[in-house]
Amino acid sequence: MAEIEKKPVKIVETILRDAHQSLIATRMTTEQMLPIIEKMDQVGYHAVECWGGATFDASLRFLKEDPWERLRKFRDGFKNTKLQMLFRGQNILGYRPYADDVVEYFVQKSAANGIDIIRIFDCLNDIRNLKTAVTAANKEKAHAQVAMSYTLGDAYTLDYWVDLAKRIEDMGANSICVKDMAGLLVPYEATELVTALKEAVNIPIEMHTHYTSGVASMTYMKSVEAGADIIDTAMSPFALGTSQPATEVMVETFKGTPYDTGLDQKLLSEIADYFRPIRDEALESGLLNPKNLGVNIKTLLYQVPGGMLSNLTSQLKEQGAEEKFYEVLEEVPRVRKDLGEPPLVTPSSQIVGTQAVFNVLMGERYKMATKETKDILAGKYGATVKPVDAQLQKKILGENAEIITCRPADLIPNELDTLRKECEQWIQQDEDVLTYALFPQVAVDFFKYRQAQQTKVDAAVADTKNGAYPV
Ligand code: CO
Repeated sequence: MAEIEKKPVKIVETILRDAHQSLIATRMTTEQMLPIIEKMDQVGYHAVECWGGATFDASLRFLKEDPWERLRKFRDGFKNTKLQMLFRGQNILGYRPYADDVVEYFVQKSAANGIDIIRIFDCLNDIRNLKTAVTAANKEKAHAQVAMSYTLGDAYTLDYWVDLAKRIEDMGANSICVKDMAGLLVPYEATELVTALKEAVNIPIEMHTHYTSGVASMTYMKSVEAGADIIDTAMSPFALGTSQPATEVMVETFKGTPYDTGLDQKLLSEIADYFRPIRDEALESGLLNPKNLGVNIKTLLYQVPGGMLSNLTSQLKEQGAEEKFYEVLEEVPRVRKDLGEPPLVTPSSQIVGTQAVFNVLMGERYKMATKETKDILAGKYGATVKPVDAQLQKKILGENAEIITCRPADLIPNELDTLRKECEQWIQQDEDVLTYALFPQVAVDFFKYRQAQQTKVDAAVADTKNGAYPV
């Protein structure tokens, strides 16, 4: 029998980023992560995704941690493993488009503090919004991976994805990720998609999906058989549900096949042992909602990512209108259509979701349009795949409103100097201006907290020197 060519599938571990973002609202602390990273470093993962996405915001806002400090600690601990982050294109890790100088500086500092692979996506798949970040990553010699935000709809044909992938390769990306944030890619569709992508481009293809709809591990299997090079998985205590397929399960699945990952199950099980009590604790405290762990077929029906489902629930709860949940879910695809049928991923998922909630609660569609809805209609986020509803655009922006058709960031003047002046009094490290740029209010609150902590420490040291404490 002819020897089958070996083609080990590479694994990106997500437990330090997407897995806890998807299951426990990004609340895992650096303290909880550090004791295990030496062991994780021995596994031989292709990379560990550990930064970016919502981790930056959550560290500052809820955990009172400096995200840059977390990254430096990872870099110290992961001596052999590449570190990967998720980057929202021109929106960086925030919710609005930034000027090019901020994007470039953020990429530069991410690489300088230890990031090897930057996964860059745009919520509209408008590749003009990726260009600055990709070029900056190339310049820093970081690996620039571009993610296509996967979604379903009339416009999203196989030709659309193939054409997008070719343009991504042409723009200088080092690899492509199919980013399926809602778990919409079903196994046999994955065969077709990956086969077509592998024929069209030469750079590696990575698959990223979520277990939300229950098909994810089968989708990975078919993707790998069709030639996908890398898959994103999470260690079992933080796998499944709204997170990724389990690392150990995928490793076992490919064992003894041409796709054998070669990863050591014993080592993986020791790592799982470490994370299991953290999961149990999260279940007990309510941070991990068992609802996020089952199969949610609604995600296929309404094409709404898991994270967005829980956001909608909490928005409605705040308004005392939980009974409107299904009405809102049905409104989501309608709003999405009105706004040019974008993929639903940060920030488009928030924009569509919030507008859908307004439309239902006000009892009249678009009685009130949010600022972000207006901005999407005005082209401030970039070009949508399909045109937005022209009547709605006129109704909300007025007859003679100017619509942006160029790359939106071309209209944003450099803003780094202004931002630096605004937060001057708080700056202790170069990176602080970037923290401030992304979340001005949250950053200042954090800077104040940091200063108070330092004052406390200084006072304690002074007291010790004065003999107030035994040394
Ligand atoms: Co994800």
